[in-house]
Amino acid sequence: MALRSNSPTSERRRPHGGEPIGIGLLGCGVVGGGVLKLLQANAEAFQARVGVPLEVRRVLVRDLDKPRVVELDRAVLTTDPDAVLTDPSVEVVIEVIGGEEPAGQYVERALGSGRCVVTANKALLAARGPALLDLADERRVDLAFEAAVGGGIPVVRTLRDAFASDDVFEMAGILNGTCNYILTRMIDDGVTFESALADAQAKGYAEADPTLDTGGFDAAHKLVVLAMLAFGARPPHDGMVIEGIDGLELKDIEIAARLGYTVKHLVIGRDHGAAVELRAHPTLIRRTSVLGSVSGVLNGIKLEGRALGPCFLSGRGAGDMPTAVSVVADLLDVARSLVAGVPGLVTGGRRLVKRPLLAPGEATMRHYLRLRVRDEPGVMARVAGALGDAGVSLSQIEQAEGKGGEADIVLVTHRAKDGAITTALEAMKKSADLVKGAVHLRIEEL
Ligand code: NAP
Ligand code: HSE
Repeated sequence: MALRSNSPTSERRRPHGGEPIGIGLLGCGVVGGGVLKLLQANAEAFQARVGVPLEVRRVLVRDLDKPRVVELDRAVLTTDPDAVLTDPSVEVVIEVIGGEEPAGQYVERALGSGRCVVTANKALLAARGPALLDLADERRVDLAFEAAVGGGIPVVRTLRDAFASDDVFEMAGILNGTCNYILTRMIDDGVTFESALADAQAKGYAEADPTLDTGGFDAAHKLVVLAMLAFGARPPHDGMVIEGIDGLELKDIEIAARLGYTVKHLVIGRDHGAAVELRAHPTLIRRTSVLGSVSGVLNGIKLEGRALGPCFLSGRGAGDMPTAVSVVADLLDVARSLVAGVPGLVTGGRRLVKRPLLAPGEATMRHYLRLRVRDEPGVMARVAGALGDAGVSLSQIEQAEGKGGEADIVLVTHRAKDGAITTALEAMKKSADLVKGAVHLRIEEL
């Protein structure tokens, strides 16, 4: 069989000669293993769809002796990135290593050498997506990344293709399967945070460093990727509101439930014109809302288009096979573009503009506060006063029977700026009324 040349893109912009498409797989863990399983199971159907067979030529790993989920010819496995990135028979590189480096330099080298790339790496895309897309454009190759957001949910292609004719101005979603799984297990099954996390890791949902999940960073990376697609935004790297579920107390989840809410780790993206609002944090949402019923490892994303109105997508957001479905769907698109002699067609034509973030204090929503206060006369009035002075109006107040000279006050506010809550809490901290730090959770009416 003839091997493809390692030549620049211009030579590729003619119809493929009918030979198989060579694939280099970087990483063979949870997702890489799923990709190989899917390629093996559906080889004939994929060949029919693309027009030529897809052949995995090299697989980069760290440990050659680790057992793999599919049987691999030992000669295919390598620990040398050059063996993949300079192999002239590799036309498409699939990056499923994760993290910014060394994955970033491998992706850059692959694109720079005129190879198409499929990646599931949201951390890399959030940090360097615009530069990598520019490089792909320059080299007229594809950089496809459906699996980077929402696991198996086709949200990237929905924004790229289906919403190409519309203007998306708002998104709200549950984008971290690990967080959603942990919260669901804690709420529904009463298991501890630690045990639910261990379970999520065993199922292959969590990142290699699970604090990326539980600290809210993984969801934030995905939101940045969506903001590029939905708002054409190139947001700055710092300044987003990012909070995780690791500090959540079961007590607040229970109180929220009594008030008709459930707690989800949510991302919110809004295009305000001059600035973009991007936030990722635990949020109270109505149990009966569409996102309120998205549980377990499922992700959900609600997009608002000016012409279409709301559009809701949901499905399995993590795990080997759902993610592999997205990776391989990208591979099929990219392979078809290669066969047609038009690589770059899938991902080209995007224009990203630098956009500032809305200042965190400017975002407006309702708020849930739980304050442990001294159980003394005048405290409630001073707490309400501090909020009133900051321009925050209260919608609901409840105080549980105090114990040991202390009591919990739960407050739900009307819509107020995040910054106003910070101001009020700072004023309260200066008094001796607060016994410990306040719990502050945001509420979204979706
Ligand atoms: P994983 O199970 O930890 O697999 C990582 C793979 O990369 C392993 O095969 C590992 O080799 C290899 N690797 C790591 N560092 C390497 C290095 N320096 N040189 C060569 N090989 C290296 O991770 P994963 O869960 O498959 O995730 C991979 C990517 O997909 C990440 O970007 C992740 O965020 C993304 N993603 C994951 C999911 C999911 O549900 N897991 C969903 C969507 C997206 P060894 O096997 O030899 O250790
Ligand atoms: N760790 C990620 C999650 C994998 O739990 O959502 C899918 O991107």
